[in-house]
Amino acid sequence: MGRVEGKIAFITGGASGIGEHTARRFLQEGAAGVVLADVDAGRGEPLATALGERAMWLRHDITAEADWQDAMPAVRERFGRLDVLVNSAGISLPSSIEDATYEHWRHLHRVNADGVFLGCKYGLALIRETSGAGAIVNVSSTMGLRPTAYLAAYSSSKASVANLTRSIALHCAEQGYPVRCNAVHPGAIRTPMMEAYLEAAEDPDAQLQAFASVHPMQRVGKPEEVAAAIVFLASDEAAFITGVSLPVDGGYCAA
Ligand SMILES: NC(=O)c1ccc[n+]([C@@H]2O[C@H](COP(=O)([O-])OP(=O)(O)OC[C@H]3O[C@@H](n4cnc5c(N)ncnc54)[C@H](O)[C@@H]3O)[C@@H](O)[C@H]2O)c1
Repeated sequence: MGRVEGKIAFITGGASGIGEHTARRFLQEGAAGVVLADVDAGRGEPLATALGERAMWLRHDITAEADWQDAMPAVRERFGRLDVLVNSAGISLPSSIEDATYEHWRHLHRVNADGVFLGCKYGLALIRETSGAGAIVNVSSTMGLRPTAYLAAYSSSKASVANLTRSIALHCAEQGYPVRCNAVHPGAIRTPMMEAYLEAAEDPDAQLQAFASVHPMQRVGKPEEVAAAIVFLASDEAAFITGVSLPVDGGYCAA
């Protein structure tokens, strides 16, 4: 029996990186359905087809409230219910407080903070209506716990995810809802998001080494390693775990 046997999961950012590997792991662990929700139809649609009948593709912008209002009935129609929401979609752009324009700040928060807020709001409602019990896993970042100078707006947006996660966990517990809400905080993970940083660097090998060297384990992480933590937090094995911020970071937050 798989760790998430029979569950239905909605995964934002499901077309790529951590979201893609989370979808793959959910299916390996017996999920009855996964929704790959993403703005990138070029990657997401063929991926959903390749993953087979239990995967559903949805073109979905997490910043558009109307997309959430359309997505939830679409999930209900296809699978009948929702058990798990994984908010993985996000963007990362560098800026110090001196470099960052207000528009840059707003852009990062619109996607990383507002998008997760909307997801939790609409996802929780559908979980409560259709399944009753369930789990939300939000993908923050080590930057949400231990920021760096060159990621000012990104770090702030990811701290928002961590605190929102705790607030939702407390709300659900206080209301007696059997819905848990947790966050994972990945360190530097080798996904297309990181590839963009490597491609922009003068010396990609040196940049990769720089990413690796800030982690006590002296390497970057794999998206499969984050997906494993997400699936654990979504599973019934984590039944008494809510409101946690779990670093998946080779020791970065411990140092
Ligand atoms: N890769 C890392 O080093 C790292 C580290 C810490 C945290 N994270 C976080 O992990 C999450 C996943 O990142 P990843 O590394 O898999 O990156 P990725 O770029 O491979 O995947 C992110 C996905 O989100 C989608 N997306 C972006 N904006 C969207 C929107 N408005 N609506 C819907 N989809 C949207 C993209 O199309 C993409 O498919 C992000 O929230 C990111 O901030 C990544």
